[in-house]
Amino acid sequence: MGFLQGSKPLRHVDEWDEFVQRRYTPGRSEADFRHYDAEANPKIAEFYRFNHANQTLDYVLRKEKQYFGLKRGQKSVWEAAEYLNTLVDDSDPDTDVTQIEHLLQTSEAIRKDGHPRWMVLVGFLHDLGKCLCLYGEPQWGVVGDTFPVGCAWSDQVVFPQYFRENPDAEIPKYQSLCGIYEPNCGLENVHMSFGHDGYIAQVVKPYLSDEALYMLRFHSFYAWHHHGAYQHLENEKDKAMLEWVRKFSSYDLYSKGHSKPDLEQLKPYYDDLFAEFLPEKMDW
Ligand SMILES: [Fe+2]
Ligand SMILES: [Fe+2]
Repeated sequence: MGFLQGSKPLRHVDEWDEFVQRRYTPGRSEADFRHYDAEANPKIAEFYRFNHANQTLDYVLRKEKQYFGLKRGQKSVWEAAEYLNTLVDDSDPDTDVTQIEHLLQTSEAIRKDGHPRWMVLVGFLHDLGKCLCLYGEPQWGVVGDTFPVGCAWSDQVVFPQYFRENPDAEIPKYQSLCGIYEPNCGLENVHMSFGHDGYIAQVVKPYLSDEALYMLRFHSFYAWHHHGAYQHLENEKDKAMLEWVRKFSSYDLYSKGHSKPDLEQLKPYYDDLFAEFLPEKMDW
């Protein structure tokens, strides 16, 4: 299993988020994005090499079976957030924000801009699925750009050259444009590479609206929401939801680095917010 765990883990899972943030720094051109090369980012490149090589349709189906039944017990949102906060890896406590702080920075930025309460809630929830790392899943199976599996990979996915090492490259059916799917079948019917997005969407699926669930499920699907790829799988609903996903993405990317949120002061607001939409405890 050494290969599957990756030989050079990222220093911490937020290193991937930081890479994405640099990739989409306002003012950077599409050409800059294309020029992301392995030499400039050796650890990030190694991370994507493992991600792209191992996220096969078979792997995704196994992980969905393992986790989407939500058999890991019940937790409230606060309990899930505190659990996620125990994920410290190798991060620097002086400069890095904690997981809860990232969630609150995102949700508070959304709140300050006057968006609806359900969207503030999405801001708080969006990365709770990273607890998959605490369940023992490797970094490349928790964070990173997501993409459909079981069909041809778009070259709009970052580091597309690493898909050559994916065993699905040898399966002609999976290499046709739509692969195992019907054209315009809708992204909800597509298996996405496994990660924290799909997992948190599954946890809150009974309670939230389509807009909220799209933001959660597809927030790392940059090839779609930033680059316009995979339109051959989109249906009308996806097209309607895209603007919401894009709106959310700007908060995920650019709310970091704001002042540290004061958890004690904010807690009553979030207690009310969680109670408005979610049960006391949810299945995880
Ligand atoms: Fe995320
Ligand atoms: Fe995030």
